[in-house]
Amino acid sequence: MIKKLMFLVLMCVIAISGCTDAVTDEETTAGDTVAEDAIDASALFTMLTEDDNYKDWNIWPGKEAMMDGNGVHGDYVSIYVSDNALSAAEVGGEIMPYETFVVKEGFNSDEELTGVYLMYKAEGFDQENNDWFWAAYSPDGTVRSEGQLKGCIGCHEGNAEADYIFVNS
Ligand code: HEC
Repeated sequence: MIKKLMFLVLMCVIAISGCTDAVTDEETTAGDTVAEDAIDASALFTMLTEDDNYKDWNIWPGKEAMMDGNGVHGDYVSIYVSDNALSAAEVGGEIMPYETFVVKEGFNSDEELTGVYLMYKAEGFDQENNDWFWAAYSPDGTVRSEGQLKGCIGCHEGNAEADYIFVNS
């Protein structure tokens, strides 16, 4: 009986500390002026393919469509930048203005589209990481992941001085 009670107490402690972790995470994002779930990657995809089609934008200055990728996002990649960020992108190494969109298409060795990747700079979204919202999509626009994605940030922060953008350095 006592053993059973001890076990229950232990489980409660684990459950409570689990909860505390979740609350701590929430508090971290609550410090931002934009809630993490306030931006909807699916709606953004519709906007970027219908209302303001990214394919009408410029390829990142000095780069080409279907250039060789380093393999992370595809054998070949095309990187588009929204018009509001074009002049900053032309300078190179600049911090991009708010409402910048960087869209990247990844292709396999047969030049078939395998994924679409988005960086969207939303004021107050993630102040510790230059306010980028990250999303990964299937070619048809299905959201694979979105938000303050640690996987994306962990690699791209290697280029933090160029605003987390590899082609910006
Ligand atoms: C292991 C490292 C790594 C990870 C993880 C990673 N990226 Fe990238 N990303 C790169 C590299 C390198 C480039 C430069 C282009 C190239 O060679 O493919 C790039 C380019 C990009 C670009 C074009 C702008 C730029 O930085 O040049 C976007 C947009 C992008 N990545 C989005 C994402 C998203 C969204 C995620 C997470 C779902 C992600 N990346 C995860 C390495 C990474």
